[in-house]
Amino acid sequence: MKRSKITIIGAGHVGATAAHWAMIKNLGDIVLIDIQEGVPQGKGLDLLESSPIAGIDSRITGTNNYAEAKDSDVVIVTAGLPRKPGMSRDDLIAKNTEIVKNVTEQIVKYCPKAFLIIVSNPLDAMVYVVSKVGKFPNNMVVGMAGVLDSARFRTFISEALGVSVEDVSAFVLGGHGDTMVPLPRYCSVGGIPITELLPKEKIEEIVKRTRNGGAEIVNLLKTGSAYYAPSAAAIEMAESYIRDKKRILPCAAYLNGEFGVKGVFVGVLAQIGGNGIEKIIEFPLTDEEKDAFQKSVDHVKELCKVTKV
Ligand code: NAI
Ligand code: 2OP
Repeated sequence: MKRSKITIIGAGHVGATAAHWAMIKNLGDIVLIDIQEGVPQGKGLDLLESSPIAGIDSRITGTNNYAEAKDSDVVIVTAGLPRKPGMSRDDLIAKNTEIVKNVTEQIVKYCPKAFLIIVSNPLDAMVYVVSKVGKFPNNMVVGMAGVLDSARFRTFISEALGVSVEDVSAFVLGGHGDTMVPLPRYCSVGGIPITELLPKEKIEEIVKRTRNGGAEIVNLLKTGSAYYAPSAAAIEMAESYIRDKKRILPCAAYLNGEFGVKGVFVGVLAQIGGNGIEKIIEFPLTDEEKDAFQKSVDHVKELCKVTKV
């Protein structure tokens, strides 16, 4: 069987850690690309030298040359600036739009058929930029944020109840930012809704911490943003595509009328399989949840306009 090829653009914190997760999961051969000379080469070689210890035969290449990405099955875009304390994700928009536009032109040239997982912030706007500049099929472009925000949500629920994270199912909808919509009504532990297990005030506290999850890490690190959980999340999505797992994962996918929204990439539950985004999962929302989702969609639309793409 042919090995999959995964290119990760941006060999910084998220990119290099994603390469590590991909190697540990034996997802295929990995190409790490960055504009900084020596950085992708050094990190790639270091990872490659860990492969005999891990017992994994991934070929890992670090390069500044996009030609090495040719015919990749998956491309993960992590190029761009991360935020510092006091900055919102939206503050990154001008600089990261330029970076992501350049990166997209290279993807069009070398791997137009790849499944594209965008990570750079502000996430929902960067997915829009890639889609608009690259004109890829909508099912082949997706943004990573929901898996991360939901993992944070699941972590806090498991801590509050003292149960295994494996038994906690939870997700968020909407854009990756202050308007995200955690949905406690659909969160469960061992199949039991958390609304039956935790008091309202505790759930509200967890929802607030989830919304603020990115800033909590930025304020602790002071020099950049989270990368272990974000990279793990991107690789979970890549794995579902490469292994045709058909996972139902929260991610920024293209809506064509689902939830009454058309023509926007925004966080929803989507099925990821060998054909990319295979399905958007629709389910009933209360009026309050609908309002919150619509507010988030409106914010994403505003951000997309700011990119001027
Ligand atoms: P980082 O600064 O560690 O790495 C970014 C890398 O991109 C650097 O190595 C830089 O040289 C490279 N780069 C810049 N311009 C480039 C270009 N034109 N071509 C190729 N590489 C280029 O930042 P980190 O922590 O890895 O974060 C990367 C991005 O991901 C940021 O925008 C951050 O906000 C975003 N992020 C998004 C998350 C999400 O949930 N969607 C979660 C975590 C981070
Ligand atoms: C996060 O949520 C920075 O968007 C990134 O950690």
